[in-house]
Amino acid sequence: MKSVNIKLENLTKTYIHQLKGKISAVNGVSLEVEPGELLTLLGPSGCGKTTTMRMLAGFEEPDSGKVFIGSEDVTDQMANQRDIGFVFQNYALFPHLSVAENVAYGLKVRGVDRNEIGRRVDEALQLVKLEGYQEQFPHQMSGGEQQRVALARAIVIKPKVLLLDEPLSNLDAKLRISTRGEIRRLQKALSISTLYVTHDQEEAMAISDRIIVMNHGDIIQIGTAEELYYNPKTEFVAKFIGAINAIPSKIVSSSDEEAVADIEGEKFKVRNFRKNVKPGDSADVLLRPEAVRLKEVNPESKIKGTVVERAFLGDRVDYTVAAESFTIKVSLYDSFGQVTFKCDQEVEIILDEKRMKILER
Ligand SMILES: Nc1ncnc2c1ncn2[C@@H]1O[C@H](COP(=O)(O)OP(=O)(O)O)[C@@H](O)[C@H]1O
Ligand SMILES: [Mg+2]
Repeated sequence: MKSVNIKLENLTKTYIHQLKGKISAVNGVSLEVEPGELLTLLGPSGCGKTTTMRMLAGFEEPDSGKVFIGSEDVTDQMANQRDIGFVFQNYALFPHLSVAENVAYGLKVRGVDRNEIGRRVDEALQLVKLEGYQEQFPHQMSGGEQQRVALARAIVIKPKVLLLDEPLSNLDAKLRISTRGEIRRLQKALSISTLYVTHDQEEAMAISDRIIVMNHGDIIQIGTAEELYYNPKTEFVAKFIGAINAIPSKIVSSSDEEAVADIEGEKFKVRNFRKNVKPGDSADVLLRPEAVRLKEVNPESKIKGTVVERAFLGDRVDYTVAAESFTIKVSLYDSFGQVTFKCDQEVEIILDEKRMKILER
């Protein structure tokens, strides 16, 4: 089957809440999922991800805007006319139906004949690696298996579009990782254009072709995981994708795209993307934990601090270090038995100037 593109044009949805009044759930969201692409909506709880997805699905009518699947405007179509497969957070399997009956459901509704249903159910179960589970019931299966049944049920109708809304949140950490791998493998193999929703940045980075970061009903930035990690447009994106330090500084001088920032008396030339930064302003300099190094303190040490937390994580050691005017997270990846540091130890903090930046808030 040929993959289609999905286009949302300027979708808006406002709810009236009894206590909170008007809630702008989605403020004019436009996006395009390319054919065969897995695009993820990522953002904190309540930012409008589910509402956006429900408007695409046809479960929610937009106040304004349009939805296209392929070249077809489906804005006025009912949900069941849109040729979409879904997987939700709670597997929503029918508890009194067997696995085969659960998976067959969408085909039955569509009037597919019995032999064809049997064949396609077997094929879908094989794709999610549950061959032989036809006669089991949902309560006899683990959460991960149930979610794979839900996935089989979504793909068995061979939909043009696959929508997954927090499909892993009921699973434990290990299962989340293996199941997301399964979803990605299947999505690629079938080349289904997919919109995926999660509030988990690591999940988004692992599974997506591209990620859309949302906040308060708005799209803040679209890009690959690398683009968002290395070139976040705002502090919000920098803090949402991966860990980052916000180090307080005083601006000494600034020119186009560059500023000199004073951190504890030391001057750093940092890339500046914030408009109207003037000498004397306070600004947070952003720096990832892996762009900080520690050394044993010595007479030449400039910025000094004390280790207040230390966590050995196997591939790295994470430290929290308190300097005079700020606290900083440091990740040291070293597998060659380099020096490590102890809690309460005084250390020199080395900040990688080349990776420092000031962003719009
Ligand atoms: N049916 C509804 N009635 C009223 N408010 C709603 C309804 N559905 C969602 N909202 C509100 O809209 C906002 C966006 O919700 P949602 O799209 O579910 O966010 P997310 O999926 O990102 O957590 C939230 O403030 C939520 O409380
Ligand atoms: Mg949601």
